[in-house]
Amino acid sequence: MFKILVVAWLSALVQDVQFADVVLSCSFIEDGGTMTGSHFARTPATLVLKDLPMSSDLAPEAITPYIPPKTPNADDLIFEVKASSVEIPEAEALLHADCNEQEVICELSRYNPRGTTPDSLPAYFIGSVQLEGDGVSHTLVLQTIADEEAESNAASLTQSKLQLPLSDWGTLMTNAVFVVFTRSPSVAAHLGEDVVLDCGYKQRDVPTERRVELEWRWQHRGHGRTVLLMKASETETENGTPVQMSREGVSTDSTLLVKEGNASLTMKKLAVSDEGTYICTINSGPFQTQQIVQLHVRQPPKVFLSQKEVIFQDETPQQLSCNCERYFPLDVAVEWLAQRPSEEESVSLTKQSSLSSHRQHSDGTFSLSSFLFVRPSENPPGTVFTCRVSHPALQSPSDVSLKVLEPEPEAGEYYWMILITLVLSVMFLYQASR
Ligand SMILES: *[C@@H]1O[C@H](CO)[C@@H](O)[C@H](O)[C@H]1NC(C)=O
Repeated sequence: MFKILVVAWLSALVQDVQFADVVLSCSFIEDGGTMTGSHFARTPATLVLKDLPMSSDLAPEAITPYIPPKTPNADDLIFEVKASSVEIPEAEALLHADCNEQEVICELSRYNPRGTTPDSLPAYFIGSVQLEGDGVSHTLVLQTIADEEAESNAASLTQSKLQLPLSDWGTLMTNAVFVVFTRSPSVAAHLGEDVVLDCGYKQRDVPTERRVELEWRWQHRGHGRTVLLMKASETETENGTPVQMSREGVSTDSTLLVKEGNASLTMKKLAVSDEGTYICTINSGPFQTQQIVQLHVRQPPKVFLSQKEVIFQDETPQQLSCNCERYFPLDVAVEWLAQRPSEEESVSLTKQSSLSSHRQHSDGTFSLSSFLFVRPSENPPGTVFTCRVSHPALQSPSDVSLKVLEPEPEAGEYYWMILITLVLSVMFLYQASR
């Protein structure tokens, strides 16, 4: 009772900070080895992140503490990550995902930091936790906590697959010791813009002289290259940090990298050729861990029609053309619609239209035209033609329209009309003067 009171009093002091447990369903992945070929074996597992600080005002009923199984089972794979771990940035998003029934992809597997052997203790695991959609993505290095009491306690369980001692409540106790994360695993930007690819890390046991190696690697359609390679350390930052770059206008702040664990890559003037998968690899102490950021170039088409209006002078059909210029990526869809004065609904003419081939510009963007033949018999004055263009870079389709106008009398007709008016006027005047 006393203990509970103390806890309540303490959390009242630290206002606006609540703690919550996040429980994730995961897969434990093992290399099947030669027995099953190159297949990976998946076993259901659970990842429990204990006592994560939550800053927002969560309804108390939204916070349900983790309750371990009633009878501990040696076959269960429950990884419990203690609160004494390194800070897990944006962990709140995981709790909200739970409430919003957002999918979380969670995979766990064994891990060997540099200088350790597969059977040495403590044991290490790597957890990859990814929120569906554009949420945060974490790679966690988990280190088992050697519990001497448990080891000496003959009654304690040993996990059947891992051969590691379990806590009295049947979980494998771990600390997260290294985290690499990105808050935006997928980035879309326009051509010519500057973008930041987000990547950061947190390390629990920081060596006295911190040395960090960062690599940003680009991969796309079977090609790949290192975009930036930086070897930063606390002492070196004053007199320059060794850095290699293979693209103009990329940078990472070496001070932020060492001091704040910010490995974000800034890219100036985005080009079509920058599109691809970027892998942020952090090497620090015995750990090497990665995070992936997808970069999509999105450039909406400029849409315009070849003419402002249609006038049919006779029965000759006319060709309309709708031009979509300098867009990226390739997938563009062009529809044609006609709204005739006599009809309430507009009709689709897309089937009667034809497309030019894609033209690619030197900057990698594309252009395309769509053509439509229109006949005066079907399209009386007042008809409105619309070209509707859909493209991934457009939030809603882009419409451009033109109208069929009444034909104007021809010059020859004018001549006759003036002549007749003149003759009639002269006759009228002559009559009047009599
Ligand atoms: C790194 O710094 C940049 C620029 O200040 C900021 O936009 C970004 O959110 C930071 N990222 C991380 C992971 O700290």
